Amino acid sequence: MKAIAYRKSLPIEDAESLIDIDLPAPQPTGRDLLVEVRAISVNPVDTKIRRNVAPADGQAKVIGWDAAGVVKAVGPDVSLFKVGDEVWYAGDLTRAGTNSELHLVDERIVGYKPKNLDFAQAAALPLTTITAWELLFDRLGVSRDAGATQGKSLLVIGAAGGVGSILVQLARQLTGLTIIGTASRAETGDWVKQLGAHYVIDHSKPLNEEITRLGLPPVTYVASLNQTDHHWPAISELVAPQGKVALIDDPAAIDVRTLKRKSVSLHWEFMYTRSMFQTDDIQQQHQLLNDVAKLVETGAVKTTLAERFGKINADNLKRAHALIESNRAKGKIVLEGF
Ligand SMILES: NC(=O)c1ccc[n+]([C@@H]2O[C@H](COP(=O)([O-])OP(=O)(O)OC[C@H]3O[C@@H](n4cnc5c(N)ncnc54)[C@H](OP(=O)(O)O)[C@@H]3O)[C@@H](O)[C@H]2O)c1
Repeated sequence: MKAIAYRKSLPIEDAESLIDIDLPAPQPTGRDLLVEVRAISVNPVDTKIRRNVAPADGQAKVIGWDAAGVVKAVGPDVSLFKVGDEVWYAGDLTRAGTNSELHLVDERIVGYKPKNLDFAQAAALPLTTITAWELLFDRLGVSRDAGATQGKSLLVIGAAGGVGSILVQLARQLTGLTIIGTASRAETGDWVKQLGAHYVIDHSKPLNEEITRLGLPPVTYVASLNQTDHHWPAISELVAPQGKVALIDDPAAIDVRTLKRKSVSLHWEFMYTRSMFQTDDIQQQHQLLNDVAKLVETGAVKTTLAERFGKINADNLKRAHALIESNRAKGKIVLEGF
């Protein structure tokens, strides 16, 4: 089968940073599905792994953790899917990634693809959807009763990115929160408003001053998705007493003592936790992907696909990694077909 991989951790400008290779087709065992991958999307984690995790000498590493495709075969213990089902999923960081024609994935972290999306539109969503859903409902514990969240607010820092683009939609559709998104450009600001943010502020300026400028009260929930260390002093200022802050990125260092006076709680979201540690509730990811598929089918949530980068090959994937590394991606970049 065709796959995209790397043998050495190299800058994306290097011709060998990602390469086209051929690998033997894998066979499903246990609860694994063998999926024929039709489309993939690209996430910052792909670029971080490519730059920082070198394969053993002589080995090639296949990365990518977002796919939509068709089930070709199932392991003997599979009970949720059958051959021919159309699926979407993000996968497991401890296993080979989705950038290959055929891919093995545990059925408990896979959902049924929304019927009204093509494979590319669907591949844009799984990793960021799992992240946004877990952050909002499992970590921050936001109520899905719109009445219970009236008068409360959510600040989404980096709202036009992959995670922000689905988080804004889920919060707008499923809660009564007032949503403030951040973006630094006219193009990304318009995108965030279209996705459902009530207000957009500029993250190139101090965020606490932007909140004051709009006359908004202190913020109940903060989802800090990007450049958390840079925004930390402003977050500590703008968050409401007894508010909650959730993080997903890799801040170099933050001083959590700044939250003490307000009794603000801090929450981490890492969407690979359930698969990495095989937690008892791992199948929640199957469930939440199915729940969001229904929201997509009713039109409440739309795909965050912004750019189709052509076929799944090393050249197109290099262009996608370069755009992600610029930290100026809007929504998601998707590649489809081999
Ligand atoms: N823990 C997890 O499970 C998890 C899951 C997914 C992602 N992540 C991590 O979360 C981060 C965001 O992921 P993503 O997929 O949303 O990234 P992304 O799509 O690459 O984010 C791009 C966005 O970042 C915004 N941005 C640029 N500079 C910023 C700044 N100074 N402050 C705030 N926003 C800024 C840009 O907006 P403008 O163009 O308007 O400036 C752009 O729209 C990455 O570090 C990723 O690895 C973690």
